[in-house]
Parts: sequence; structure tokens; C-alpha cells
Amino acid sequence: MKTQVAIVGGGPAGMLLSEMLHRAGVASVVLERSSEAHVLSRIRAGVLEQGTVDLLRSLGLGERMDREGHPHDGMQIVWAGRENFMIDVHAHLGKRFMAYGQTQIQEDLMAAARERGQVVLNEVDSVRLEDIESEHPHVLFRRDGEELRLDCDFIAGCDGFHGVSRKAIPPTVLREFEKVYPFGWLGILSRTPPLADIVYANNPRGFALASMRSPTLSRYYIQVPLETRVEDWPDDRFWDELKARFPADMAASIVTGPSIEKSIAPLRSYVAEPMRHGRLFLAGDAAHIVPPTGAKGLNLAVSDVFYLSRALADFYATGSTRLIDGYSAMALRRVWSSVRTSWYLTNLLHRFPDMSDFDQRAQEYELHYLQTSHHAQAALAEQYAGLPFEPPEAAAVPPR
Ligand code: APR
Ligand code: PHB
Repeated sequence: MKTQVAIVGGGPAGMLLSEMLHRAGVASVVLERSSEAHVLSRIRAGVLEQGTVDLLRSLGLGERMDREGHPHDGMQIVWAGRENFMIDVHAHLGKRFMAYGQTQIQEDLMAAARERGQVVLNEVDSVRLEDIESEHPHVLFRRDGEELRLDCDFIAGCDGFHGVSRKAIPPTVLREFEKVYPFGWLGILSRTPPLADIVYANNPRGFALASMRSPTLSRYYIQVPLETRVEDWPDDRFWDELKARFPADMAASIVTGPSIEKSIAPLRSYVAEPMRHGRLFLAGDAAHIVPPTGAKGLNLAVSDVFYLSRALADFYATGSTRLIDGYSAMALRRVWSSVRTSWYLTNLLHRFPDMSDFDQRAQEYELHYLQTSHHAQAALAEQYAGLPFEPPEAAAVPPR
């Protein structure tokens, strides 16, 4: 088999890349380890930045999002015993967010791929990337017991954190930056009306978050110790603990119901640099992980893909390597901005098991400053909104 861009991984990053390349007249083949049903069964993030929303709309992929999603202006922070306050991104920047599930985006991307006849090979295994330092890389893989080979000009590693692409970069080249947090989030999805806003709660019992997927679908999380088991958290226990972490009036307006999904996710920050080696480019979770605080993961996958598709399209149109050479540095600027923001919000809102009295007071005064300072709120609003995508000229900034 032969194509221009081999895309390893058919999650949101891989499928969006194939869509954007197609529009630029660049052919691709997507290789996905799992079945379509499995990819669609994953409940993941659900808050889209304005830049993500605008991009999906510009691709004609916004119709269902605009029908079913829930636009909102920012986030509320509640802090035990104090008044709530709002980080109003719309007031500060004129930007909004959309609550719309990654699962739905994945469905929309797959429907669009089917319509244009995109080649997506599901249930491939033993994927190996070969000759990535040459001008003729190829991907070897197995499918239905058969050993296959895909020749290409470029490989896009969109295979998530546990994929194989990042591992194809020699350890002498790859630098890894990692932070593991000493707790996880226990999350549930329920078919109940959500609170009007996304609300982040800092409470002595631990962090809690009220979020949504649509006007009839709620998503809630509580901070839990790493060793927590889902089996120990029947719905009633979850709802009681969730409500105990919100102020009484808010707790009273949380509508409970049976969970339709319940899972625990550990929290981690991770960045791999560079995001390009030879003819291999990394995008999305393959290159970086953020803790969910701030909901930046999916939005970063989208900005990576925006930059990468523009760079590859420019290469095929003009023969210039300027944008592909600038890809890693440009993508990493936005990645580190969101990595820093999600790390800041994680530190601001959680109770750390080893927190000293000093740490606790410092956190309280950070919250106090944020609550009372217009400037602090404006700065957080700008970062929480996500930085604007950089124009192609910015590729002139020297690569890291
Ligand atoms: N070969 C082929 N496909 C693979 C391989 C492999 N060796 N390893 C993993 N994959 C597939 C996974 O099955 C998955 O479908 O790659 C895909 C990666 O998808 P995601 O993990 O969803 O990552 P990405 O597309 O970068 O999406 C961005 O942002 O909010 C976060 O975690 C959220 O998944 C979301 C991510
Ligand atoms: C979610 O809806 O899943 C969500 C919302 C906001 C976050 C994290 C996750 O910060």
C-alpha cells in the first residue's frame, strides 16, 4: 500500500488530521489498533475552546455540536466557606466555550470520513515505524493475520500516550518532562440536567467538579486517593460525597440519578520534545498529557493537528519545508501554555496529601487574590481560553 501521509491512531487527532489533509488534497491512510465500536465507547473530555469550535465549524463539522452542545462563558470557582466567583472568559476576551463530548466529536469525524471514502484500517496490530530518518519511511503492521506494509512520505503519530510512535524517536533525541500527581479523579456520567455553569470546588474533603455534556447529560468528578477502586463507590456514595464538597445551595440543585459511566483517571502532566523527528510528526496525546483540570487535552490535539495539516499542505503545495521545520516549536509553545495552566489549576484546586500548613495558607491566599483581583482573573481567563493559533509567519521563531 502507498499513501502520502500514514496516520497512526484513529482517535480525535488522527481522524481530524485525515479530514484536514483531505481538504488540502493530501491523501492519507489511518491505522487504528481498536475496533470502531471500542474507539466510540470511550468517555473522555468535553469542553471545547473557541478556537476548537471555530475550526470544527469551518470544516462543516459543527452542525450537531451547535445543536446538542452547551455554550458557556467561563467557569465558576467555589471555595469552601467563601462566595463563588466566576472566571468570565467571555467578559474578558469575547470568547466562549462549548460543552460537547469527545465521543460525539469522534462520531462526527468518523461519519465525515465514511462520506469522503477515507481509508481507515481498524484492528491493526504490531505497528512498526521504519526508516523515519529517510525520505521514504514506511509502516509495517499486521491485520487479519496478514503482514502488511504502507509506504508514505510522512508518518503522523496520533496514537495516544501508550502508542508506538513516540518510542520510534531515538532516546538520545527525545526529552521527556513529567509530573505525576498523588491523586486521581473519580468521574461519573448521568442522564440528569447539569448545573448551569461548570463549577470547580476547592474543599477540605478534596476537589470536586460539576460539568456537562449537553442540557440532559451531566459529568461530575471528585478527587480520590490513587488506590481508590470504582467498586467501592456505588452511586449513592458518590452523590453524597460530591454534594458534601459543594456549598449547600449548589449541592441542593445537583440533580442525581443512576450513573451511565463511572471510572477513575490518574492525573499526570507529560511533554515529549521534539514533536518531530525526521519524517515522523507527533500530535495529540502521543506527545503530551495534561491533567484534566482545565480540560485542555482535546483542545491541544486540535491545535497540533491544525499546525501539522497546514505545514504538510504547504509542503505539498510549494515544496517548502519551512512550516514542517517549524512545527515542533510552534506546537510546543501552545502545548506548554496549556500544560502550565492545567498544572496551575491542579495546584490551586486540589488538596495534596503532603500539604503543609504553609502550602495550605499559600493556596488560600492564591484563591483570595484570584477572587479579588480583576488582573488575576483576566490573566487566568486568557490562559483558560487557550492561546490563539499562531499564523504561519510565526514559524520563523527559532525551533527548540
Ligand atoms: N497502533 C495503532 N493505533 C494505536 C496504537 C498503535 N500502536 N496505539 C494506540 N492507538 C490508537 C488508540 O486505540 C486510539 O484510538 O490511537 C488512538 C489515540 O487516540 P487518543 O488516545 O484519543 O489520543 P488523541 O487522538 O491524541 O486525542 C486527544 O485529548 O482530552 C484528551 O485524552 C483525551 O483522547 C483525548 C486526547
Ligand atoms: C469534563 O466535562 O469532562 C471536564 C470539564 C472541565 C474540566 C475537566 C473535565 O476541567
